[in-house]
Amino acid sequence: MNLLVVGASGLLGAEVCRQAVAAGHRVVGTYHSTAVAVPGVAPLRLDVTDRAAVRALLTEVRPDAVVATPYRYDDWAVTADGAAHIACAAAEVGARLVHLSSDALHAGRPTPYLDDDVPTPLHPYGAAKAAAETAVRAVDPGAVLVRTSLIVGKGSKQIQLGRDALAGRAVLFTDEARCPVHVADLAAAVLELVPSDLAGPLNVAGPEAVSRAELGLLVARHEGLDPAGLKTATIAEAGLHRPAEVRLDSSRAAGLLRTRLRGITEVLA
Ligand SMILES: NC(=O)c1ccc[n+]([C@@H]2O[C@H](COP(=O)([O-])OP(=O)(O)OC[C@H]3O[C@@H](n4cnc5c(N)ncnc54)[C@H](OP(=O)(O)O)[C@@H]3O)[C@@H](O)[C@H]2O)c1
Repeated sequence: MNLLVVGASGLLGAEVCRQAVAAGHRVVGTYHSTAVAVPGVAPLRLDVTDRAAVRALLTEVRPDAVVATPYRYDDWAVTADGAAHIACAAAEVGARLVHLSSDALHAGRPTPYLDDDVPTPLHPYGAAKAAAETAVRAVDPGAVLVRTSLIVGKGSKQIQLGRDALAGRAVLFTDEARCPVHVADLAAAVLELVPSDLAGPLNVAGPEAVSRAELGLLVARHEGLDPAGLKTATIAEAGLHRPAEVRLDSSRAAGLLRTRLRGITEVLA
């Protein structure tokens, strides 16, 4: 298969590339500001905010499938418009599209979120991810939208945040629950979805919900760091308005996919 990974320089994109190359696929991977460090991948520079450039690249590469991962937390043009540009160009060349979405499009509630729960974003990043989904679905109803949660593994920003909080340089919330997933599990799930005909939103996250603070303690145990230094607070204490409990119910994905999505306690055992 001829696979295009947009965002191959990122945490998830690079792992998708590694696994796709190992599986024998021809892989083209795009980057924006960081080089692609995966052997066997043909790197191409791309700015997804440039609609014409996205179209030109897909017309040149003519992939069978596209895995779309790019985002910038505070940049609507990358996260929302970029996703739309990729979807339009993929549809034009008839490529299967796996779009990476996020639990950040939910407002938070005590009960877990199902695959097709409608977005209720609280902050601009969540709104951008919701807008991206809307655009992708409108352009290509056959695309699968992978809603995921905190991605952990080597190079993960979430793990680094845990280290920073253990060193007193950051704060982890005790009331912010998420379902972390290992990057290798998520990448394997994404690659399973490529040849499938699954369409629409699908939760693909770990089966175990933990608070950010609990994740920090798991990082301490895993890395042999002193848990006593962990700096924690509640969202209210920090004076913030952000999603608290966002648990993705990934049981449908777990039933559909061969990939086992491990819980965070197992991942950081
Ligand atoms: N990380 C998490 O915990 C988490 C949680 C939930 C959902 N997600 C979703 O999962 C996906 C992958 O996340 P990740 O952690 O792997 O992201 P990441 O490591 O931050 O990688 C982001 C990628 O986007 C690329 N990019 C940024 N601006 C671009 C632009 N203007 N044009 C083209 N490419 C651009 C980056 O390229 P350069 O580095 O070369 O600039 C990089 O390859 C995202 O869609 C994210 O919303 C992530």
